[in-house]
Amino acid sequence: MNDQSRTATASHAAPPKALDRPLEVGPDDWNRREFYLLMTALVIPRPIGWISTLSAAGVRNLAPYSYFNLMGSDPAYVAFGSTGVKDSLANVREVPEFVANIVTMHLIEKMNFTATDFPRGEDEFGWAGLTPAPSARVRPFRVREAKAHLECEVVQVVTDGSTNIVLGRIVHAHVDPSVWKDGRVDPKLLDPVCRLSGSGYAPLGELVSVQRPQWKDVTGTAGQEAMPKAVKK
Ligand SMILES: Cc1cc2nc3c(=O)[nH]c(=O)nc-3n(C[C@H](O)[C@H](O)[C@H](O)COP(=O)(O)O)c2cc1C
Repeated sequence: MNDQSRTATASHAAPPKALDRPLEVGPDDWNRREFYLLMTALVIPRPIGWISTLSAAGVRNLAPYSYFNLMGSDPAYVAFGSTGVKDSLANVREVPEFVANIVTMHLIEKMNFTATDFPRGEDEFGWAGLTPAPSARVRPFRVREAKAHLECEVVQVVTDGSTNIVLGRIVHAHVDPSVWKDGRVDPKLLDPVCRLSGSGYAPLGELVSVQRPQWKDVTGTAGQEAMPKAVKK
């Protein structure tokens, strides 16, 4: 991009009620909360990592994080982001392991309840009526009621201001038979919670399938005629 093509000026000093022209805005143009609301409304749906950790004193902790995703597969990594130093972050600094419990629709209310600002010594498993089950490879407990769990070892915490990104290498996965079909996890059976912004969530909608093309299919064509069609599943 050359200098003439850059437009660094904010188009609106604050979020307008109606948008009469395209929005152009940087992180320093609005107050922090307004920019946060914009980002979390744009990057949707987000999966939720329901992160269980353990303090050095042995107190269990469980909290949802939607700054969460798979970050690689060889080796497999997940990351979650803590805005500020919350109990989950304090715990992984003491016991550098966590379990990312997968949040499915039947657990949405309990998941949300564990986001309450319980004091550090409180065990959210107990408050939410969830069963702590021993993990296979890490010390933090997993949520027995969850349909799948990723056990992780913390490799690094990247901190920039109040953003703390916890990188965890997956060392073990656990999947309940109820979500397994035809040799794999069935997305409909899993029924994951999709995080939107504010208090908004959604279940999985209609499923579609699009085959991924290879260069050998595209070369020699005008390109778009080789573009695979999306089909409903
Ligand atoms: C669905 C959902 C997703 C959340 N995602 C995040 C997140 O990605 N990062 C964050 O810092 N807080 C997030 N929160 C808020 C934390 O869960 C909340 O601050 C919680 O009390 C932190 O718990 P802890 O102190 O036990 O770690 C989220 C809350 C909900 C309900």
